Amino acid sequence: MSFPATRLRRLRRTDALRALVRETSLSPDDVVMPLFACPGEGVVRPVAGLPGIAQRSIDEIAREGAELQRLGVRAVLLFGIPEEKDEQGSGAWDADGIVQRALRALRAEAPGLTLLTDVCLCEYTSHGHCGVLRDGEVANDETVELLARTALSHVDAGADAVAPSDMMDGRVSAIRDVLPDTPIVSYAAKYASAFYGPFREVAESTPAFGDRRGYQMDPANVREALRECALDLEEGADVLMVKPALPYLDVLRAVRERFDCPVWAYSVSGEYAMVKAGAAAGHLDERRAALEALTAVKRAGAGTIVTYWAKELAAWL
Ligand code: PBG
Repeated sequence: MSFPATRLRRLRRTDALRALVRETSLSPDDVVMPLFACPGEGVVRPVAGLPGIAQRSIDEIAREGAELQRLGVRAVLLFGIPEEKDEQGSGAWDADGIVQRALRALRAEAPGLTLLTDVCLCEYTSHGHCGVLRDGEVANDETVELLARTALSHVDAGADAVAPSDMMDGRVSAIRDVLPDTPIVSYAAKYASAFYGPFREVAESTPAFGDRRGYQMDPANVREALRECALDLEEGADVLMVKPALPYLDVLRAVRERFDCPVWAYSVSGEYAMVKAGAAAGHLDERRAALEALTAVKRAGAGTIVTYWAKELAAWL
């Protein structure tokens, strides 16, 4: 049937009708809030590129966790900025490291929150790369062992799930070997993206030389993303994550259609910063733009989104 019998505007007439036929919805259940733990006490250090996001000392992380829990956010993803960095990134697996301490504090102050940790070395290495260097390159297999050690230390400190973000080959199986019962949320298709810019400012993890194109994916590729995902599932990943989100909606859709596991997206710092900057300049409405962007990420195939809007979203909805 076509026009005039078919008139698609009929179902767009009122808010209630639109709600009744809406295909995609957003809820606080669908988002994960990133948190950045730093040394000190009573520290809430805002980041210029990420309005509303701050580095927080352990006591402040615990307070923020309790607040997020109260607002209805269910999960956080923890990053750490250590006191000291070294060649190996040994702060990453220190039983008394920054993330490990933050985990214990969050467990105590926000017992209802699900605690995920980012597993990577880049915040802990003096050179800022995601693994150990041999002859100026990141050495894969050595790094993988250190990542497994890091993941284990996070779980010992109370993490509910671990999220490896380094893009080394074989890291999921190495983590699976030491953690048979822990959910692994794999950053399976993680691209070498310019949209991580503001994050590197908050995580203090900009590489001292070179870039991450030797391990993160080429933005031009989608078939390769499917191979990464297939391998991670075989190695024991429970959740596949695509990152960034908005510039990679086609990748999300392809991963959603190919695999039957949960698929998540990481809506990265640059995506958030762009909207914040546009809104601050008076060019767009932040809340509408954020809800539209996050709805699009879900529509493309993400069940859950890691987003810096998680806290505001819980308040908005
Ligand atoms: C660590 C890591 C990065 C992000 C998450 N985990 C940065 C990077 O790979 O350089 C980016 C998150 C964001 O931009 O919001 N490897």
